[in-house]
Amino acid sequence: MKKFQAPRGTLDVLPPDARRRLRLVEITGDVLGRAGYEPMETPVFEDTELFARGVGESTDIVQKEMFTFEDKGGRSLTLRPEATAGICRAYIEHGMHKRPQPVKVWTAGPFFRHEAPQAGRFRQFTQIDAEAIGSDDPTLDAELILLLAEIFERAGTGPSRLRLSSLGTPDTRADYLDELRSYLRAREGELSGEVRERLDRNPLRAFDADHPGTRAVMADAPRLIDRLSRDDAEHFGEVRALLDAAGMPYGLDPTLVRGLDYYTRTVFEFESERLGAQAALGGGGRYDGLVEELGGPPTPGVGWAAGVERMLLAAGDDALDQSRPVFISYAAPGAARTGFLLARQLREAGFRVESEQAGRSLKGQLKQADRVGAFVTVILGDSIEVKDMQTGEQREAENVDHVLEMVRKVPGA
Ligand code: HAM
Repeated sequence: MKKFQAPRGTLDVLPPDARRRLRLVEITGDVLGRAGYEPMETPVFEDTELFARGVGESTDIVQKEMFTFEDKGGRSLTLRPEATAGICRAYIEHGMHKRPQPVKVWTAGPFFRHEAPQAGRFRQFTQIDAEAIGSDDPTLDAELILLLAEIFERAGTGPSRLRLSSLGTPDTRADYLDELRSYLRAREGELSGEVRERLDRNPLRAFDADHPGTRAVMADAPRLIDRLSRDDAEHFGEVRALLDAAGMPYGLDPTLVRGLDYYTRTVFEFESERLGAQAALGGGGRYDGLVEELGGPPTPGVGWAAGVERMLLAAGDDALDQSRPVFISYAAPGAARTGFLLARQLREAGFRVESEQAGRSLKGQLKQADRVGAFVTVILGDSIEVKDMQTGEQREAENVDHVLEMVRKVPGA
């Protein structure tokens, strides 16, 4: 018989990991909700053309990584590789520019990129994503960065570095790209084949190269950040001043290249110090031309996305844990109904409660209580005993109501 396996690059999310994911999404909703971001959802597949135009024809995502298929009507559809293009499409389609601006939304769900799977890199992965569309106010850029940092903090993802840069506007960028192309052409012989091939379409990618010759050339290459227009430089200066004022450390990194073409002005990426090759926890930036590019009115926007699998990897097994339960065990048969009702009563009082439901011996039950991390075990028999799992101390309760009172006093709930 054929043994089925999950497709390459996908993963089954088993307990307790699935719970930790859910918790992470809850934290996201809480942090973003307090800043006025509303949840929103878009389809998992879209018109292929949307991503080709939105993400950019020359990007790796569009060139190599999209899961594209034809529907029965011969339309080309693509499993979404990212959220921003779909959200901007929905913003236009539903006339959301008529709402009070900026429209602040967030979403979480599965995304698909046909990449070579490795630790922290999957073909189906999960992102949390936040967008603020309809204003170019630099406080939005800074706010979004701080909110993402707050989510990392609450999720316990550990130390990370924030890389920050500005790409300017398309005009500045076009002039700069001409300058960079000329520079690269003059030293073409030292560049890798891949960079040479892309020189016309996307010379910026040369900053990403691992090839030693290319890296040497890039060390002296002109930087976009030194060529910003006055408006862009001022905007970036304000974003930086806000981050400084908030005490948010960052490294200015003019070589920061994001894998999507829609960015203008601010770009940023958080890199975990706990992850290996796939260290990017999340990133984003401003995309002031995207809505217009997709057929809407000229509309600025800014946002980010972060990888849930990577965040959980960085957070480790102990992060995002839930409260410890009360465990109800039985020293004598016939107490099952008392225990059943006691469990209900304790849950109503706000405790997490697990009880023996597999016919174990008392010794096995206490082991099970340890395994589920119980802070207290109630043992029902001829008497009712309340055992503090931390100290091992065991005391008799007078009746079921007394159990509640005693459990409340045990530290560690
Ligand atoms: P991105 O940098 O392509 O940005 O992806 C954001 C995050 O998603 C990455 O930092 C990483 O944590 C996670 N991620 C990406 N690809 C994979 C993968 N194959 N496996 C596991 N995790 C992955 C965007 O997607 C932009 N839409 C962000 C944005 C929103 N910019 C403006 N608004």
